[in-house]
Amino acid sequence: MCGIVGYVGGERCVGVLMEGLRHLEYRGYDSAGLALTLPGDEANGYHGTLDFVKRVGQLKNLAGALEETNGRLSGVKAGVGHTRWATHGRPSETNAHPHTSGEGEAAVAVVHNGIIENHAELRAGLEARGHAFVSETDTEVIAHLLAEGVGRGESLREALAETVGHLHGSFAVAAVCAAEPDTIAAARHQSPLVVGLGEGENYVASTVQALLGNTHEFLVVENGEIAVLTGGSVELSTLEGEPVEREPFEVEWDAEAVELGGYESYMLKEIHEQPAALGATLSGRLRPDGSVDLSEVDELLSGVERVVMVACGTAYHAGLVAKHAIESLARVPVEVVVASEYRYADPIGDGNTLVVPISQSGETSDTLAAVEAARGFGGRVLAVTNTQGSLITREADAVLLTKAGPEIGVAATKTFLAQLAVLELLALGLARTRESLPEEHLLGLGHELRRMPERVQETLELLGSEAGNAAIAAAVKVFEGARCSLFLGRGPSHPVALEGALKLKEISYLPSEGYPAGEMKHGPIALVDEYCPVVALLGEGVYREKTISNVEETVARGARVVAVAREGDSEARRMAAATLPLPESLAGMPEVLSPIVRTVPLQLLAYHVARDRGLDVDKPRNLAKSVTVE
Ligand code: M6R
Repeated sequence: MCGIVGYVGGERCVGVLMEGLRHLEYRGYDSAGLALTLPGDEANGYHGTLDFVKRVGQLKNLAGALEETNGRLSGVKAGVGHTRWATHGRPSETNAHPHTSGEGEAAVAVVHNGIIENHAELRAGLEARGHAFVSETDTEVIAHLLAEGVGRGESLREALAETVGHLHGSFAVAAVCAAEPDTIAAARHQSPLVVGLGEGENYVASTVQALLGNTHEFLVVENGEIAVLTGGSVELSTLEGEPVEREPFEVEWDAEAVELGGYESYMLKEIHEQPAALGATLSGRLRPDGSVDLSEVDELLSGVERVVMVACGTAYHAGLVAKHAIESLARVPVEVVVASEYRYADPIGDGNTLVVPISQSGETSDTLAAVEAARGFGGRVLAVTNTQGSLITREADAVLLTKAGPEIGVAATKTFLAQLAVLELLALGLARTRESLPEEHLLGLGHELRRMPERVQETLELLGSEAGNAAIAAAVKVFEGARCSLFLGRGPSHPVALEGALKLKEISYLPSEGYPAGEMKHGPIALVDEYCPVVALLGEGVYREKTISNVEETVARGARVVAVAREGDSEARRMAAATLPLPESLAGMPEVLSPIVRTVPLQLLAYHVARDRGLDVDKPRNLAKSVTVE
């Protein structure tokens, strides 16, 4: 939620900041703004000045405003930028960051991601000392506190260290001031912040994605540290001023990975990147004979008696799929808990409890807090994340990295499938450690898992074929005029139904709920009529006949059904108004792995229903990709 970026060094400043914000826009798009330092001259005693451009709404509005500055900002060498997801104060130009305070040499500007919990108290104190507030934001207190320090003659570093000492809550901040026009100071507490290292220029941002076009070398900034950047130097220190030495880390993602690459949206691109995401995630972790190589986390798995998955949203659904896989293959009890509940639940566990936080971003504040709660009982923490160097990687005992590449679309797609792949590996790894299944059964499943990239590719090709397009168009038609929808599945298809419903509601704004098919008669069936489409995951084996009966019951009550079933499934075609086809070659695929494939048609369904309604699938209203506040 909210993205921050900073640049210091050369005259590319405005371009680098705007490029950075473009890659951070998934974090919020209520407003965007820049604060830039202009070099000093003889006339003003050689201190710099600050200039600002801010606009409400998406970044394109800020880009338009910059075009009207007619070269006023050329020659700028340092600045900070922000893209906002509003928490305190509605989206408006006044509430847009950067926030500023002070005059002349003491003028400061700050961008912030997070929430300052004691802002009201700080504001009262500042107002009593004569500061006039212009915005309704919590952030403005930071600007005034900083300006007080700089006004007393403190350096930007000293003023920021002192300011940070007054703040409660979560924050990543970057600040500039007129007195030091070639410097940026930044700090964080619980919100993410990285420093990017360049040649004669340096950067700071909420995530590495913002900077991949400029550098692949990064430094993590830890809680309680200040980073001071000039074009030629980066200094890390504690709030007390003790220097901190830290090795940089290299990020493998390339800059093209964060571009659209010819697709009309990131979501569509990311759906089509799923075979590659699965391939990269499985690579090196499954041997050719089908055995699992999880040497990276092996130690953590021995003696595990219980597993707890904690996650939010789509990642929570991945946890539910994992529960089914781990319990059925490894016979270990698994609990899956929404992280925002777990953190306050006073959870029960011991040193043999494996706690698995799942988080694409590795930044979700509730998931991080859930890890802290698990630490309270001495749980072993194995994080699943897609983001190298993210906060969660530093809180965990070990990490299983999904290798889906950067995901920009707010709706998670390829990272969900990559999470499923890694969690299926974990299930196989635990089953091997516990010897819960015969070796040849495990090797067979390993072989099947190795085939998943190819199976997803086949599914995408089928859905992208003429027949597939016609099927999707028919399914979209079923949703015309709908006022709600239900997604049904049993066993491992139940979490897929939940995920399908979440995808649809978040990008099309159509109320959609997922249920175990057997729950229908206990309430949800009351919703069913011709304006409440039912999306049915028929499944195979023990689940199929029962699911079909439940779906028939909805048809009898006027529901129009969209079935997800194999191409040649005549029973599905008989019942359904539209069938999203899966390749016939999936016959015999183990049900425990099926969520990896069955999710794909639901992602495309959500995508096309939203596009049919003329909506922006990459930036759905009210959402931000990384939820870094509670
Ligand atoms: O970064 P995380 O995996 O921790 O994010 C968790 C959820 O916020 C996320 O999955 C969210 O539900 C997505 N927008 C769903 O598409």
